[in-house]
Amino acid sequence: MSVPKFQVSREVLELEDDHIQTLAKLGRKEIEIAENEMPGLMAIREKYAKAQPLAGARIAGCLHMTVQTAVLIETLTALGAEVTWTSCNIYSTQDTAAAAIAVTGVPVFAYKGETDEVYDKFLKYQLAAFKDGKDFNLILDDGGDLTSLVHTEKYEKALKASYGISEETTTGVSKLYRRLKEGKLLASAINVNDSVTKSKFDNLYGCRESLIDGIKRATDVMIAGKVAVVAGYGDVGKGCAMALHGMGARVIVTEIDPINALQASMAGYQVTTMEKAASIGQIFVTTTGCENIITGVHFQAMRDDAIVCNIGHFDTEIDVAWLQKTDDNKVEVNATREQIKPQVDRYLIKSSGKRIILLADGRLVNLGCATGHSSFVMSCSFTNQVLAQIALYKAADKKFAEEFPEFANTVDPNNISVSVLPKILDEEVARLHLAHCQAELTTLTEDQSKYLGIPVAGPFKSDHYRY
Ligand SMILES: NC(=O)c1ccc[n+]([C@@H]2O[C@H](COP(=O)([O-])OP(=O)(O)OC[C@H]3O[C@@H](n4cnc5c(N)ncnc54)[C@H](O)[C@@H]3O)[C@@H](O)[C@H]2O)c1
Repeated sequence: MSVPKFQVSREVLELEDDHIQTLAKLGRKEIEIAENEMPGLMAIREKYAKAQPLAGARIAGCLHMTVQTAVLIETLTALGAEVTWTSCNIYSTQDTAAAAIAVTGVPVFAYKGETDEVYDKFLKYQLAAFKDGKDFNLILDDGGDLTSLVHTEKYEKALKASYGISEETTTGVSKLYRRLKEGKLLASAINVNDSVTKSKFDNLYGCRESLIDGIKRATDVMIAGKVAVVAGYGDVGKGCAMALHGMGARVIVTEIDPINALQASMAGYQVTTMEKAASIGQIFVTTTGCENIITGVHFQAMRDDAIVCNIGHFDTEIDVAWLQKTDDNKVEVNATREQIKPQVDRYLIKSSGKRIILLADGRLVNLGCATGHSSFVMSCSFTNQVLAQIALYKAADKKFAEEFPEFANTVDPNNISVSVLPKILDEEVARLHLAHCQAELTTLTEDQSKYLGIPVAGPFKSDHYRY
């Protein structure tokens, strides 16, 4: 099967019709199944169908082009938006999903196995792909690459005139706060990651399932009985440690934060440093969002056929460059590489004579070696994304806020800020997913409501509550 490229325009898509149509048919079937597992998105489509709150919005979205993202895109267009799309990782596109969306006329610039150069080019293409040469007026980002691009001179004017940015992940959100602090953020942003129904679900329960999926598809290795090392014990690390432990691995955690380290200890994991864990571990997973977590010193201490992978957003956590280093004559310095299959490489470490198995070139393993999180948990994340886009776009629309008071005062249209969605919307996202879990909620009585000082309809917790 040749690699499909959904990159240029509707006309080019027609030229490649046969191949795209075959992929698109399969993608459409996958999308239909996903819709049934994404009750939040489907409910939002229904609730705001008449109001068309995104009519006139031109959204440039950069987020893994998977089946679940296809349901997100079709929710945005169902609410009136014009959309262009790229994947935020070179390995994470599901070609069937990309094709299914491309044939509907949405410009999609993504295919599985792009190069970094192609990825950079696609980001630029997507910004030029709106009808009649118009500029984007909203950004929906995952990790901050598109946000960085629109902060360059060429796009600055459009960004300043836009309604803002919504950001999906921890790593992208930290960059937004850094930009804000330095006075370099040029449009308001919503931090979607820190909606409780995003980070406490997607990062934790999502990774709890998709990490193992990635490792298994790549290696088929038995996890039970092995020593697994999880670097970082934030939301993602907690989900990964739980999954590995659940499969019967003995889990070791590394942390820099005493609170998270203590949490890991209380959960029953051994906490130590990577220097000490390197020679014991058989499966290594980095989840820190930091850099240089596993480097040459660690590789050289590892056991034969240790599996090394990363589930954090960027490929900065594992020093792949050390493994791939060559001298002036292009001879490998530290290790020789044998490709087992796409996204699975076995490196022979010269100094130790042992092999390590690297997954997805150190990029996020659940999307590189599997297909990311399941639809249901992505429905929680993406319902927040759609609400964030509406909140940004309607920030100055008083009539809309009267009709839908849940959006009132979420974003200050006169000041550049980074905000999270209000608790009432966070609770609403959870509520929309309860029936699918066959969960029945208890309603506060009037007396109980008075006793606690909490409205019967919520919000039920203060903003500083930690869940
Ligand atoms: N692959 C996915 O599907 C997926 C999903 C959600 C988030 N993410 C990404 O995963 C990464 C982690 O997200 P999170 O929400 O868990 O963030 P988090 O901030 O909750 O957790 C990261 C943890 O790593 C620790 N840490 C930082 N540097 C460290 C170091 N040098 N050694 C050991 N520990 C260190 C921090 O103290 C923190 O507790 C981010 O890059 C995020 O964008 C990926």
